[in-house]
Amino acid sequence: MPVFDQALGRLGNDIAIDLGTSNTQVLVHGRGLAVEEPSVVAVQRGNGGTQVLAVGTEAKRMVGRTPENIQAVRPIREGVIADFELAEVLLRSCVERALAGRPLVRPRMIVSVPVGTTEVERRAIMESARAAGGREVRLVGKSIAAALGADLPIHDPVASMIVDLGGGCTEIGILSMGGTVVATSVRAAGDHLDRALVALVQQRQNILLGERTAEEIKLRIGRATPDEAAPAQARVKGRDLSTGIPRDAVVSSEDTVTAYRPILEQIVEGIRKALSRTPPELAADILQRGMVLCGGTSLLPGLDDYLRQASGLPVVIAEDPRRCTVIGTGELFDDPQTLERAAPQG
Ligand SMILES: Nc1ncnc2c1ncn2[C@@H]1O[C@H](COP(=O)(O)OP(=O)(O)OP(=O)(O)O)[C@@H](O)[C@H]1O
Ligand SMILES: [Mg+2]
Repeated sequence: MPVFDQALGRLGNDIAIDLGTSNTQVLVHGRGLAVEEPSVVAVQRGNGGTQVLAVGTEAKRMVGRTPENIQAVRPIREGVIADFELAEVLLRSCVERALAGRPLVRPRMIVSVPVGTTEVERRAIMESARAAGGREVRLVGKSIAAALGADLPIHDPVASMIVDLGGGCTEIGILSMGGTVVATSVRAAGDHLDRALVALVQQRQNILLGERTAEEIKLRIGRATPDEAAPAQARVKGRDLSTGIPRDAVVSSEDTVTAYRPILEQIVEGIRKALSRTPPELAADILQRGMVLCGGTSLLPGLDDYLRQASGLPVVIAEDPRRCTVIGTGELFDDPQTLERAAPQG
């Protein structure tokens, strides 16, 4: 970054953005996390075009509860932008809230994006960020950002492994000497756990649950491994598929373990694949040092135990796992050398 821009950076408000499938976070450099909102936009579609009704928490409350002409849309699916127009609305709204009005100098922006985003998707994110007020926009890979935010020694000549388990995808990164050695993502994360639970309850009880209800069950009693000492149950409302009438479903934490297992197996498979693509010396480092977990889904009880057993590697959960990515993205403003090398991998 030119010296002049660095001086402007100190004057203006540099911001780091994690546009996630479930949550969008905006951090103002030097001030900390400013906005954290569900990645949901509620719109009314009619003859006059699309009208935005709500963004973030308010819009998430409407998911599954809207009449026909109103939709609560999640513009990011499986980690990638599915609705460019509404992703821009989301981004712009979060940036405006973070800056609380027009700043004197247009901010520099760093946005973290998942591995495998296409050229077209990247250009769309850059354009959205500029439309939201960005002066100079940089995109960086999520893994390197998350690893920095998790305080992994990515600059050392030793391999570190970060596994970011989000809502739409799990991204696995192996880093060494300030760069990404391997980055890969698996479409198996929090949303998939919720959908698997919906399918299990439908199959066993013939009751259809909403995805939000399935997420609530996960947050209350969901587990990756059985806990014989404290079995738990949740009573929720669903729709009886033979009568069409609302009916109570009782879901146990055992049910969640069963439903989630195939999804967790896909994550383990992804970890294996990433390791198989890692040069032997670096793979040996990982065998010894293990992996660090982050992202909202890393908080699922028993997940760390499950991954430890399934992979045979040491596993720890990062401090503040839900914010690693945005924190690390912000740190890149102070680390131009790493920023140069942090461009997302195709
Ligand atoms: N305590 C918890 N236990 C289990 N799952 C949780 C917990 N807290 C949050 N989650 C889940 O974490 C997911 C959201 O995580 P996160 O905010 O890291 O995702 P994201 O960054 O928006 O998504 P992605 O990185 O896939 O684009 C949701 O599926 C949510 O249900
Ligand atoms: Mg994420």
